[in-house]
Amino acid sequence: MTEHAKIVPNNLEAFWMPFSANRQFKKAPRMFVAARDMHYTTSDGRKVLDGTAGLWCVNAGHCRPKITEAIQRQAAELDYAPAFQMGHPKAFELASRLTTIAPEGLDHVFFTNSGSESVETALKIALAYQRAKGEGSRFRLIGRERGYHGVNFGGISVGGIVGNRKMFGTLLTGVDHMRHTHDPDRNGYSKGETEHGVELAEDLVRIVALHDPSTIAAVIVEPVAGSTGVLPPPKGYLKRLREICDQHGILLIFDEVITGYGRMGTAFAADYFGVTPDIMVTAKGLTNGVIPMGAVFVKDQIYDAFMGGAEHMIEFAHGYTYSGNPIAAAAGLATLETYQEEGLFERAKALEPVWAEAIHSLKGTRHVTDIRTIGLIGAIELEPIAGEPTKRAFSAFVKAFEEGLLIRTTGDIIALSPPLMVSEDQIGEIVDTLKGIVGGLD
Ligand SMILES: Cc1ncc(COP(=O)(O)O)c(C=O)c1O
Repeated sequence: MTEHAKIVPNNLEAFWMPFSANRQFKKAPRMFVAARDMHYTTSDGRKVLDGTAGLWCVNAGHCRPKITEAIQRQAAELDYAPAFQMGHPKAFELASRLTTIAPEGLDHVFFTNSGSESVETALKIALAYQRAKGEGSRFRLIGRERGYHGVNFGGISVGGIVGNRKMFGTLLTGVDHMRHTHDPDRNGYSKGETEHGVELAEDLVRIVALHDPSTIAAVIVEPVAGSTGVLPPPKGYLKRLREICDQHGILLIFDEVITGYGRMGTAFAADYFGVTPDIMVTAKGLTNGVIPMGAVFVKDQIYDAFMGGAEHMIEFAHGYTYSGNPIAAAAGLATLETYQEEGLFERAKALEPVWAEAIHSLKGTRHVTDIRTIGLIGAIELEPIAGEPTKRAFSAFVKAFEEGLLIRTTGDIIALSPPLMVSEDQIGEIVDTLKGIVGGLD
């Protein structure tokens, strides 16, 4: 038992937990009280191996000294500076540093505080850009079934998760959705991009024909859909979306909130797939999840389109009190340095085949119906219990936690995304633990 073992709250009622089964949790709480590198410590003093980088965000591992010290220093030096009409050096430094790792041409960065805010920002930039160019008739936004783009109104509108949409009224108007690319019958047990399904990009042609290109501002996709169970794109699919968008003057937005900052073994999924979007949405790994921050990258021509008119006028009526917050910016800079000094993106690339082999070794385990890996991401799909969807995977999650492994589940799919510092032994530990747990489930 550690000193942390004593830290337990005496009342769990007040906190309405996000995306959680509140009643189940409050009956049997799972509390983390400390973390270091690849492990969490629970309130009863147990070590839990982090198989999910927190929530896909702690790419450099936990409580890394450089990041911790940068935050401490910044908090003591300049805690906050107004984000509007004022600046501070670290926000500019971080934006500049980010453009050096971004795909070519994405040379301007707008800061937000989360993935959801980055999505809203990207959608607003797309609409305002088309209008600034004299193409204000382009008001439509196209998303995709099974897409997750955060929880704000724009994001759930272009998103394709029924449960996240159905409670919230009419959402944004003028939105349409392409078909998703998940096809386990043809692409079962895939490593990397899937073999089949490039033709699904033609669904965008259908939508363009239906609405007319002159009404469409942007298309937004996750290069690898994460939250709906890790759906890698079919070979050639993203390139074809790029072509169709170019042909019709439509902006292509990549939501790289999960895939950014080394998760794919490259700085961004855009590099992994060799397709550059016009706008790139990021958050999470930007600050190693330590301080909330998001960054939206845009191509030069988009930024330039806003920079007309009288110089004393605000060019884009959008921003957050905490856009480019000094402590977040300091965390971002220290995070990028940690990634670079430790070669973590390269490490993820080298581990990709090892990871794929290890996760795919779970094929044949009882209840497993499909496995997908790409970069340092993995998904293990389970046969749902008849009439009780999600229950089997949730049981796996609770058991894994009890046995010292943090996994994430979505529906009946187990999703894995460890910090990029994960060792081969730890990958083995993840697989061994899961083999025992999943095979033993009801
Ligand atoms: C692809 C994608 N976009 C947006 C978001 C929303 O990010 P946040 O929870 O920081 O608002 C997420 C979160 O998981 C995500 O995976």
